[in-house]
Amino acid sequence: MRFVVTAGPTREPIDPVRYLSNRSSGKMGYAIAEAAAEAGHNVLLISGPVNLAAPKSLELISALSSDEMYDVVHRHLDGTDVVVMCAAVADYKPATVSAHKIKKQDQALSLELIPTRDILASLGKEDRQFLLVGFAAETNDLEKNARQKLQQKNCDIIVANDVSTITSGMETDENEVTILLRDGEIKKIARAPRA
Ligand code: C5P
Repeated sequence: MRFVVTAGPTREPIDPVRYLSNRSSGKMGYAIAEAAAEAGHNVLLISGPVNLAAPKSLELISALSSDEMYDVVHRHLDGTDVVVMCAAVADYKPATVSAHKIKKQDQALSLELIPTRDILASLGKEDRQFLLVGFAAETNDLEKNARQKLQQKNCDIIVANDVSTITSGMETDENEVTILLRDGEIKKIARAPRA
């Protein structure tokens, strides 16, 4: 089968030297992509900026910003059987990108943020030919929020993880997740190493 897996954070530029991003390490997406490749599947990994070695035996394309990741994902859907949107895509980006480095001033500085395009939601069309898996990193009401996300983004599966503790979630080597299926079934996966 053909898998497209996204991983890591995105960087939303503010000016030529600054950006908004998040703490995603990319470990989960890389582990999923490598596991699928080891199981014999054809895997395209679309990665935000991470400090991880490029896995062997799969194709890797880098995407820095949410807009770039949106375009790369949409350009590579032909013949795809499974899309796993593991990337921590930024929800907001600066409304404008300054062409020059913003100068430091004594007054407070406000940045106007606008919503990014939601890649996962854009894939949730009824006539899609692939299984669509999304992720939900939550700090509270894990199952409720994840179920809502599954419905709003029209996914087949949502993998939810609690990022409110320092022992699971972002930047950790282990994770425990709750998997919610479209038909209402819920599976809990106990703490385990990502890779
Ligand atoms: O809404 P939230 O950001 O919590 O949703 C998380 C899920 O949506 C993840 O699967 C993430 O990859 C995806 N997402 C996306 N595009 C965005 C924001 C989130 O594909 N702009």
